[in-house]
Amino acid sequence: MQQAKQFTLVLFGATGDLAHRKLFPSLFRLWKSNLIEDFLILATGRSQADRAAFLEYLREYVEEASTEHEAWASFEKCIEFFQLDAKNEQSFHQMASALESLEEDRNLSGNRLFYLSVSPGLFGSITENLASSGMLKRDSNHQDAPWSRLVVEKPFGHDLESAKKLDDHLSRFVEETQVYRIDHYLGKETVQNLVAFRFANGMIEPLWNSHHIASVQITVAETLGVGDRADYYESAGALRDMMQNHMMQLLALTAMEPPLSLSPKDIRNEKVRVLRSIKIPTSPKEVAQSTVQGQYGPGVVDGVKVPGYRDEEGVDSNSTTPTFISTRVELDNWRWTGVPFYLRHGKRLPSRVSEIRVRFRTPPMHLFHASECSPSCPNVLRIRIQPEEGIRLSVGAKRPGPGMNIDSVDLEFNYSDSFGVDLPESYERLLLDAIMGDPTLFIRQDEVEASWVWADAVLKGLEEQPVPNFPNYTAGSTGPEDAGSIFVPLSSPRASEPEDAWGSFNGDSGSDQNHGAPS
Ligand code: BG6
Repeated sequence: MQQAKQFTLVLFGATGDLAHRKLFPSLFRLWKSNLIEDFLILATGRSQADRAAFLEYLREYVEEASTEHEAWASFEKCIEFFQLDAKNEQSFHQMASALESLEEDRNLSGNRLFYLSVSPGLFGSITENLASSGMLKRDSNHQDAPWSRLVVEKPFGHDLESAKKLDDHLSRFVEETQVYRIDHYLGKETVQNLVAFRFANGMIEPLWNSHHIASVQITVAETLGVGDRADYYESAGALRDMMQNHMMQLLALTAMEPPLSLSPKDIRNEKVRVLRSIKIPTSPKEVAQSTVQGQYGPGVVDGVKVPGYRDEEGVDSNSTTPTFISTRVELDNWRWTGVPFYLRHGKRLPSRVSEIRVRFRTPPMHLFHASECSPSCPNVLRIRIQPEEGIRLSVGAKRPGPGMNIDSVDLEFNYSDSFGVDLPESYERLLLDAIMGDPTLFIRQDEVEASWVWADAVLKGLEEQPVPNFPNYTAGSTGPEDAGSIFVPLSSPRASEPEDAWGSFNGDSGSDQNHGAPS
């Protein structure tokens, strides 16, 4: 693996939650693994007075700072701090000269990665001030000129219009090729493995279409509630927070055509074609028939009593923000017409699980008696993104003894057994790629817009429904009761599949409705 050298990472929002939970630990691990060298992290924030205070703050919040004390002490030498008022242009000019002399002291050549881990309201002014102070430069065609890149955290807009506005604004200062829109799901090993699994195995791809696949379910279930992010979440809700971005990306990778190559352009071209093929609901009635939303009330999760969404700190006591959404999506393209894609996401569900379940059609006639599922066992492929990362394929096998009874058994691959390594944190991969200038795992603007076209139509349809009767599911349950009518139960091959090592999110019943979408 190549080493990334000679760069400065300027971090906006360095005292935020993401910085100490993910970004600093990831940078530390990259540094320990010798994947980055000769660099400077310039942390910026309003709330810490100086470098010493900031380092003290990091030591308090980053676990590795105490568990790996010595290494951390050495890593700290790469960190500087600048107290910045992000809305004040003058402050950026001061930072520009500070940055220049820091880079000079360290013999750095001026390659800069600006990471915007701040509220979206600040994206515009930060970029403008970075450009006017001369820190952020538009890509020139000079090969030897230092590079500038902008990493932008989600959300990319609140709807299609604001996403376009944000992009128009960014394009006043940088080229599209300089913008790295992060979706941390793309940094997950298992999400990348989805592409490998599909296209590296000759036996999978011929079956990967409507002739052989009956339905696809994509679930991202969380046990967590809204935490201390009520401010953001109240205006976002489940669809904007998870579905418009992470789940649309999972859908795109699951359904895309084989790319011509693994180049960023070819992969992103294929993803955007999927997103553009999503059937857009044209009436509130259509949305009502394909979507169920919910909000959690008080309940018990992992044996702990938790408050309802409306009782969370910072949440309006009459809030109608959904914390759960399940929806049926159809793709209007050659490969997938007629195959329902069920997407489901919620907070405060019984277990944390992200997975894609692909259910194959059953054989044309039932020769055997199926013992544990009826009338026959469909093959189901489960691609587990987290936790217990791996892949499981259920197949029918003869039960030993007299007669010809078929039970479902599993063929299984599991990351930890097969590779025996801890999977890297998704931000490690994404940070390294952004520093190396590889945009493959970042979202292009046309993908953002195509996802918003769908999300806006669903949101509009939901707005036109009667005010929802929230809360409509208990924290720790599997979601609103009527979600089942949309999210067709996908037969677990073993109808009585226990809450097993896969931490099964068991909304499943034993039904075998191959074409299962209710209309
Ligand atoms: C974030 C959402 O993008 O992803 C959060 O804003 C959500 O609401 C989180 O909890 C889930 O990420 P992961 O990696 O824990 O599944």
